[in-house]
Amino acid sequence: MKNYYITTPIYYVNDVPHIGHAYTSLACDVMARFKRLDGYDVMFLSGTDEHGQKIEKSAVKAGMDPQAFTDKVSQNFRDLLKTLNVSNDDFIRTTEARHKKACQALWDALLARGEIYLGKYAGWYAVRDEAYYGEDELKDGPGGKKIAPSGAECEWVEEPSYFFKLSAWADRLLAFYDQNPDFILPHTRRNEVVSFVKSGMRDLSVSRTALSWGVPVPNEPAHVMYVWLDALTNYITAVGYPDMQADGYKKFWPADVHMVGKDILRFHAVYWPAFLMAAGLEPPKRVFAHGWWTNEGQKISKSLGNVIDPYEVIATYGLDQTRYFLMREVPFGNDGDFSREAMVRRINSDLANGIGNLAQRTLSQIAKNCGGKVPAHGAFTDADEALLSRARGLVPQLRSLFDAQGFSRALDHIWDVIGAADRYVDEQAPWALKKTDIARMETVLYVLAETLRHLGVVLQPFMPDAAARLLDQLAVPADARAFEHIEGDAYALQSGTPLPAPQGIFPRYIENAA
Ligand code: MSP
Repeated sequence: MKNYYITTPIYYVNDVPHIGHAYTSLACDVMARFKRLDGYDVMFLSGTDEHGQKIEKSAVKAGMDPQAFTDKVSQNFRDLLKTLNVSNDDFIRTTEARHKKACQALWDALLARGEIYLGKYAGWYAVRDEAYYGEDELKDGPGGKKIAPSGAECEWVEEPSYFFKLSAWADRLLAFYDQNPDFILPHTRRNEVVSFVKSGMRDLSVSRTALSWGVPVPNEPAHVMYVWLDALTNYITAVGYPDMQADGYKKFWPADVHMVGKDILRFHAVYWPAFLMAAGLEPPKRVFAHGWWTNEGQKISKSLGNVIDPYEVIATYGLDQTRYFLMREVPFGNDGDFSREAMVRRINSDLANGIGNLAQRTLSQIAKNCGGKVPAHGAFTDADEALLSRARGLVPQLRSLFDAQGFSRALDHIWDVIGAADRYVDEQAPWALKKTDIARMETVLYVLAETLRHLGVVLQPFMPDAAARLLDQLAVPADARAFEHIEGDAYALQSGTPLPAPQGIFPRYIENAA
């Protein structure tokens, strides 16, 4: 049985969904769709992070009770996923009963194993990050304020608190990273985490008494759990924890990958495996930290007023175009710059002139010169075989790139095949063969159509709608669009199959078309 479990971070509901939220979810969607096409049973989770001081403050500001507030704003995140055509299998909210139960069970396990003790926290806390900081990590800001490395303002907190014995886990974490060299990707990020752990970790405060908007600590009515302990637990709640005999848990835990932004790597790559190991549970197999987007070269921030609205981007450029741009523009893991010019360039040169033009040229010649049916083919020449074998080679290449979340490189490979197909059309010139050698013209168009079938199948994870339109135009049945159908020839296009009238797949983007 091939199972695959992938998660997005759960999003803070205080924010309006922006391009950063869209990006993590899209990357997971591309990965999840790829694995499904490759025959895996996939569990793809997203959701919302609804407890803690930051959310409580936003609710107060909105003049609402936190439960009513989170009920309302959580929906914005579900809606965004729908608009992005994200194929998540579950959507978890940390205010759900199943989650409270899982958090409390994890707490009990940690307590029973002597990993948690009662003490008193006196130190700095940044509500924006929901994170504790040591004095040595902070800078002085205006008005005597203390500023965290993330730029968040800190406040002094003194309260009774339970602590998790994080300091005792440093060596075991380092050994775990050593034994699992790909636990943290990209590797550059891994080094940061290792040096953080080596620098000496303090025990972690895991309960708060200054607020009540959280999961209650079992038998301690004055304490709620620290929001990151609560939030991280969502990943096991959704597969059935604390019922470790649950089908979901047995099939899907440990998760294959937690996809996160680089800002929240420490929580996922240090705290989370430590909590799990301390509770006697298996840590996830991988945490992948992606980069951040800037807007036309500038850091994105609410105060600068340059937050990118994914709905506006999709309405302007199209959904599949946006998905393509975000996955292609920068190697996954690096920071990227969102610029309108780069977007338009990608749409016109890669999509309209690239795959769009290849499909259009091929399908319109078939419609005109082959009676609108998949052409007959004779024996394949070396040139035909060369192109077909590149198309057939795609899945194994993509598999290994996807194994390390190399989405942009995967697209580079797909575009290499599109480039090879373009050169093949130019060299074979089927329009000229029409006058001299009809049989050869048909073979050439067949080879191109079959190449397009491969391309349509492998483009599905990135651009599900456009790829479906391409496969529809090749009359590929809906149940023959998985990777198994392009490995080997058993499902190759059948000569004589009637094809629908060709339609453009990717129009050019013309500025100020209105
Ligand atoms: N609630 C926590 C996650 C808990 S997971 C157990 C959280 N939520 S968040 O809503 O603030 O952030 C969600 C994701 O959006 C993070 O992975 C973050 O990196 C990502 N992004 C926020 N702004 C971004 C960009 N400008 N660019 C790319 N991703 C960014 O953190």
